[in-house]
Amino acid sequence: MTHEITVHLGPRSYPIVVGVGVLASVGARLRALDVGSRVALVADPAVRRLHGARVADSLRAAGFTLSEISVPEGESAKALAVAERCWDALLGAGIDRTSTVLALGGGAVGDLAGFVAATYMRGINFVQLPTTMLAQVDASIGGKTGIDHPRAKNLIGAFHQPRLVLVDPGVVATLSDREFRSGLAEVVKHGIVADEAYFADIERHVGEVLARDVPTLERLIAGSCRIKASVVERDEQEAELRAVLNYGHTIGHALEAVTGYARWAHGEAVSVGMVAAARLAHRLGVAGAETVKRQEHLLEALGLPVRLPPLDHAAILAAIGRDKKSRDGKVPFVLAPRLGQFRLVFDVPADAVLGVLAELTTGGNAA
Ligand SMILES: NC(=O)c1ccc[n+]([C@@H]2O[C@H](COP(=O)([O-])OP(=O)(O)OC[C@H]3O[C@@H](n4cnc5c(N)ncnc54)[C@H](O)[C@@H]3O)[C@@H](O)[C@H]2O)c1
Ligand SMILES: [Zn+2]
Repeated sequence: MTHEITVHLGPRSYPIVVGVGVLASVGARLRALDVGSRVALVADPAVRRLHGARVADSLRAAGFTLSEISVPEGESAKALAVAERCWDALLGAGIDRTSTVLALGGGAVGDLAGFVAATYMRGINFVQLPTTMLAQVDASIGGKTGIDHPRAKNLIGAFHQPRLVLVDPGVVATLSDREFRSGLAEVVKHGIVADEAYFADIERHVGEVLARDVPTLERLIAGSCRIKASVVERDEQEAELRAVLNYGHTIGHALEAVTGYARWAHGEAVSVGMVAAARLAHRLGVAGAETVKRQEHLLEALGLPVRLPPLDHAAILAAIGRDKKSRDGKVPFVLAPRLGQFRLVFDVPADAVLGVLAELTTGGNAA
């Protein structure tokens, strides 16, 4: 069943279409948006080989003149030199203000291609065709685009909403197990902070999720897109509310930083970060034990990490202090008083964080 979710942003509104096989409809759907005839499809070679033909065929069949731009796999796509090569290629292909850039791939390709579309001729049409779990439920929605600076991830960027997001849950079949599970962390996050019934739906269908049962994925991915879309609608430029999507990320990002982005996939670090946030909420008297337990159990059941190896806790604390979201030197922690609810807490004592880190460390003291 195909689900259609509208992101309501006035003149920048757009649909997210979730359904098996929906990639093959990209040409017709783009035609209906009345854009110019030239399009550029940005993808890495691996994703192009797996899923590119369907997209290219659909675009050509709808009468578009297609140029294909290849970029490196993963995070290395988010570099200024790569963006520059893309701008060159767009220029070479005669892409103009009415043309469209399409991103086929994970969050990295989406962030890069979106940034290229945002900046080329001060912004041209952009379409997201996300192929990782993370990109399907998170990165492709909301208009955050950007590249990395050698000294900081995502430092250079722009808000640029897509005209259309097409999510085909069938393509996650080719993801590695680790990449797939890592994306599930964001799915769980959406349930924790926004929707208890959605969280319970995942709890009841762990087996189907892990088996990548397509109807189950279709329903859950659509649910996740709906949650992300509703947050984006209420807070397009990331003021207060959008911080809710940062649940588990304050500690998760710090864990990624102190381990040199090498030990965990992003979602794995976020998983431990969410367990830490849950326990922090309990420690501060914000959440009950049952709320903590359900989060931890679900993440563990999905094969995500819920414990820490021995690490330098002072270094983790320092990395938390450098959080990009901090205001006036205060780091906002997103806590969940209950499943489906959240609260921003600015004055979390360092001792409480250290206590939780110790608790979660394998071989460490305490519960
Ligand atoms: N813009 C946002 O709001 C937002 C939100 C979250 C994350 N992000 C960004 O997303 C990026 C991470 O994205 P990601 O987790 O999707 O990883 P990724 O984009 O780095 O892709 C990981 C790998 O998966 C492969 N791949 C993609 N789809 C595949 C498929 N269907 N089958 C097999 N292999 C496939 C790619 O070739 C790549 O090697 C980070 O750069 C992060 O900053 C952006
Ligand atoms: Zn994330």
